[in-house]
Amino acid sequence: MALERTLTIIKPDAVAANNIGNILAIIEVAGLRVIAAKMLHMSDEHTESLYEEHKKRPFYASLAGYMTSGPVLIMVLEGENAVFTLRKIMGATIPKDAETSTIRNLYAEHEQKDGALENAIHGSDSIANAQREIVFFFKPEEISSRTR
Ligand code: RTP
Ligand code: MG
Repeated sequence: MALERTLTIIKPDAVAANNIGNILAIIEVAGLRVIAAKMLHMSDEHTESLYEEHKKRPFYASLAGYMTSGPVLIMVLEGENAVFTLRKIMGATIPKDAETSTIRNLYAEHEQKDGALENAIHGSDSIANAQREIVFFFKPEEISSRTR
């Protein structure tokens, strides 16, 4: 097992539904520790950098509209196998396909409206992307490793 860091974003739909605490409870029960956090209303530039791999996809415009529709909570998490652990507790991208007890199963709408696929949470999908995303959103002095 390896101590890793990953980046998570509680997306605009989950912030609007007041599910920050519910989602953090699942994250903390899974053994992940918050070591940095900031609330932000993402810009088009933030979205482009975060989702650069999706820029050419047909759903990109609706994804950008979704991610900039309201404030988000961005956090760095630390823990054993943090990247995989977070992806596991998030559940599948499409909320109605997400396993029982996962964050997307519990806290994302299963009946999607037209447009963006709203699914409550983002998690880095690899160690390399986690490092890239953490550096993009946080200065080193904004990250506080746990001392106890
Ligand atoms: P995330 O990056 O936010 O953690 O989500 P993910 O890995 O589970 O899914 P990904 O394939 O990276 O897609 C990023 C986000 O784009 C939206 N999406 N919409 N309409 C569509 O077909 C579609 N596909 C993806 C979702 O908000 C997804 O989380
Ligand atoms: Mg992804």
